[in-house]
Amino acid sequence: MVKKYGFGKEIETDAVSEKIEESSKSELEIEATTDAEGTHFTMELTDETAVYGLGEQMRGINKRGWIYTSRNMDDPSLTESRESLYGSHNFILITTKERNSGIFIDATGRVTYDIGYTKYDELRITVSGGFDLYTIEERTALEVVREFRRIIGKSYVPPKWALGYGQSRWGYKTEADVREIVSGFEKNKLPLSMIYLDIDYMDRYKDFTIDKNRFPDFEGLVRELKAKGIRLIPIIDAAIKIEEGYEVYDEGVKNNRFCKDKEGKEFVVGVWPGDSVLPDVLNKETREWFGEKYKILLDKGIEGFWNDMNEPSLFYSKQNFVKCINEIAEKKGKDLQAEDFNHINYLLSQLANNEEDFKSFYHNADGKTISHDKVHNVYGYLLTRAAAEYFEKYNPNKKYLLFSRSSSIGMHRYGGIWMGDNASWWVHMLSEFKMLPSLNMCGFLYVGADVGGFDGNTTEDLLLRWFALNIFIPLMRNHSVPQSRRQEPYMFGKTEVFRNFLNIRYKLIPYIYEELERCAESNEMLFKPLAFEYPDDERAKETEDQLIFGKEVMLSPVFEQNASGRYVYLPEKMKLIKMKSCEEFTVTELEQGDHYIKVPLDTFAFFVKENGYSKIMDYIQK
Ligand code: GLC
Repeated sequence: MVKKYGFGKEIETDAVSEKIEESSKSELEIEATTDAEGTHFTMELTDETAVYGLGEQMRGINKRGWIYTSRNMDDPSLTESRESLYGSHNFILITTKERNSGIFIDATGRVTYDIGYTKYDELRITVSGGFDLYTIEERTALEVVREFRRIIGKSYVPPKWALGYGQSRWGYKTEADVREIVSGFEKNKLPLSMIYLDIDYMDRYKDFTIDKNRFPDFEGLVRELKAKGIRLIPIIDAAIKIEEGYEVYDEGVKNNRFCKDKEGKEFVVGVWPGDSVLPDVLNKETREWFGEKYKILLDKGIEGFWNDMNEPSLFYSKQNFVKCINEIAEKKGKDLQAEDFNHINYLLSQLANNEEDFKSFYHNADGKTISHDKVHNVYGYLLTRAAAEYFEKYNPNKKYLLFSRSSSIGMHRYGGIWMGDNASWWVHMLSEFKMLPSLNMCGFLYVGADVGGFDGNTTEDLLLRWFALNIFIPLMRNHSVPQSRRQEPYMFGKTEVFRNFLNIRYKLIPYIYEELERCAESNEMLFKPLAFEYPDDERAKETEDQLIFGKEVMLSPVFEQNASGRYVYLPEKMKLIKMKSCEEFTVTELEQGDHYIKVPLDTFAFFVKENGYSKIMDYIQK
C-alpha cells in the first residue's frame, strides 16, 4: 500500500506518474521533526534490519553502516568515503523478518541518509527544503519495489541494437580515428554496434556543432557505418559556450533560455568550452527549445546520445574564479610560507561545484523563480528528459539510445545512465555490480559502467574479467581517458578470448533484451540481490558478490586479480555453465551450498536455475 504525505514540495518533479491522494500526517508512522537543517525522520534499526536502495552510490547493496547524501556531484574519485555520486535516487527499502517498507522522498534538494552511521541502531533521514514523502508497505521486498516502480512509471528501454558492444574513448578525434577503430574490429572479427564520440567531434566543444576539419563528411560517415551495423553516438554536454554568432547561444540569450544571477544577467560558468551558460531546463519552454536542438544531429542520421556534465558540473563560476585569483594576487611580493601554499591550494580546490555558486544562480521554473541549490538534483534529469521528449516528437515510432551521467528518479522513464568516471581498478568492477540492483530498484534498467575503467591504465586480465562481468549488463561500453593505455579489445594478446566473450554476449542479446522488456513492463528488477530472491536464507542475505539476473540466471563474476576461480554460495541446486566460446562449454550440476569454482581468464561462468536451463541453452545454440 502506498501513502503520500506533503511537506511543501519546491516544484512538481513528475517523478511519480501515478496520481496519489495525500494522506493526513496523523497517519504517518515515522517520527518526524523539523529544525533549521530541514525535516528529520528517525527510525530504529534492529540488528537484523537491512536497508537497500539509493541507486548510484558506493559501498554495499545493503546500505547499513554509512551516511549517504543525495547531491549530484561531478567528482571522479569514486571511493568508499564518498557520500554522493552523480545521481540522487531517494528510494530506500527497509527490511526485517516481519516487515518490508519503502520510502521515497520526492525532493529536489539535498537529502541525507544516516543509516546507522552516527548511531549504529538508528536511521535518520534529513531533507532540506520541501518534498513529498511516499511510504510503501508490502509483504515482500520485491513487492515493495514493484509497487514503487509502478507509481513512478515504466522504465526506459533502448533499441535492441543498444545492447550490442560499444567502443568509446575520449581521444577519437577525427573521421580517420573512427575508421581506424572500425577496421581494428573488422580485422580482428570482433562484433561492434556503437562507436561513441566524445567532445572532440564538436567545433570547440560547442553542443550541436561538428568540427568540419575533423569530420568533413559527418553524414557520409554515419551512413557508411550504419551500413555495417555500427551507430555513431555523440556526446552532448549541459553547458553552452558563450560566443556571439553561435546559434544556440544567440537564440538562448534572445529568448531568456539560460540560468540567471541575482541581477538577472546570465550566470557564467567554466566547463569544457570555457566561459559558458546553463540552459534553464527547469523551464518547460526551455526544455522544448533545448530538446529541439538534437534535431541538428538527428537529421544527420544520429540515433543515440550520451548526455554529460549535467549535474551540472562547474569547473568554476566566473565570479568566484575572478575573486579567487584576486586573492592569490594579493600575495605577490610577500614572503610566501607553507600556510600561503595551503591557502592557495584550498582556494583553488573550492572552485569546482561550489555550493555557494549553486545558491547564486536562478531558474524560472515555469513562472517560479528558484535558486539552483534547491533544485540542483533534478537538473540532469530534466535535461535528459528534454532530449527524450523531443525524440518522441521527431519520430514517435522509433526508439533512441539515450543515457545520462546525472539523474534522479523520474529520468528512468526517459533514458539510462552510465556510472561516471570510474577507474581501471578491480574494486570498480565490484562497484558496478553492486549498483545494478540498487539502480534497478529506482527504475533504472539500462545501466552500466565504463568497461575497463575510465581513468588510469587497464590491464589485459582486468579488461577480460570486465568483459565477462558485462556480458549480462545492458549497457556494455568500453570507455577511457586520453592519457591512459589504449583498451580496445584488440590491443592485447588474447584477442580470441575477447572475441569469444563478445560472441557470447551477442548470442545472449535476444534473451537479455526480452528480460529487459519484461522487467520494464512488469516493474521488476533485472538484477536482484540474493536477499530478495531467497528472503529466508540467512546466507543468501549476506551474499553481495552474486546477483540473480531475470528469472533464471545467477551471476558470480571474478572480481580479483590473479584469482583463477572463486567461492560461490548456491541458495538452491543450479547448473554451472562454463563457456570458452559458444561452441565450447561444459555444464555441471551443483547442489545447494558452498562451492569453489575454477574460472580461468578465458572462461565465462554463470549459473542457471533448474527450470531455466533449456531456455538459456536454446539461445546459446541458436
Ligand atoms: C566527463 C565524462 C567522460 C568524458 C569526459 C570528456 O569526465 O564523464 O565520460 O569522457 O567528460 O567529455
